[in-house]
Amino acid sequence: MGNNSVFKGDFKEIIISEEELKQRIKELGKEITESYNEDDDIVMLCILRGAIIFMADLSREIDLPVTFDFMDVSSYGASTKSSGVVRIIKDMEENIEGRHLLIVEDIIDTGRTLKHVVDILKTRDPKSIKVVTLLDKPERREQKEIEADFNGFEVPDKFVVGYGLDFAEKYRNLSFIGVLKEKMYN
Ligand code: XMP
Ligand code: MG
Repeated sequence: MGNNSVFKGDFKEIIISEEELKQRIKELGKEITESYNEDDDIVMLCILRGAIIFMADLSREIDLPVTFDFMDVSSYGASTKSSGVVRIIKDMEENIEGRHLLIVEDIIDTGRTLKHVVDILKTRDPKSIKVVTLLDKPERREQKEIEADFNGFEVPDKFVVGYGLDFAEKYRNLSFIGVLKEKMYN
């Protein structure tokens, strides 16, 4: 994998290194594999766009047959923040009735996005719903009942980018996760 040296100067700190990501994702894959039966019908649902790199790496550590699907959701702007309304930009394609759904998220922050996604998908009668998130920011949680079944790393209440997570669509293709220098936001 690349070392992304061209971007390193933009960062104030690196929070999770490429090695730590690899190691933890291997463990998550094992945990997830062990939580299902061999003949379970599993749909892995990637929440676009932030979870795409995580899904690609995690899925290769899961030793079971899985189907890939994708859903794109977006929170309304800051003015409607408190309403917790989340809009579906692109729905998933698979019929999940009677199947095991594994939702793959990049980060759970307030929990609003995930709560909304889970509420919608529950109505489609999957056999089970589990959630795996790479990152968790528990300090910011508003939806107390929203917890991932599998969680890669807890992160502090700082805006993090890299490994799928972006700032203004940049930095998704980095192999590490870090916090940008203040000046990068201007
Ligand atoms: P909620 O608050 O609904 O937010 O749990 C989840 C979504 O918000 C985005 N998000 C971040 N994106 N760095 C990012 O690049 C962050 O630190 C961060 N915190 C939240 C993300 O899209 C996530 O799915
Ligand atoms: Mg984003």
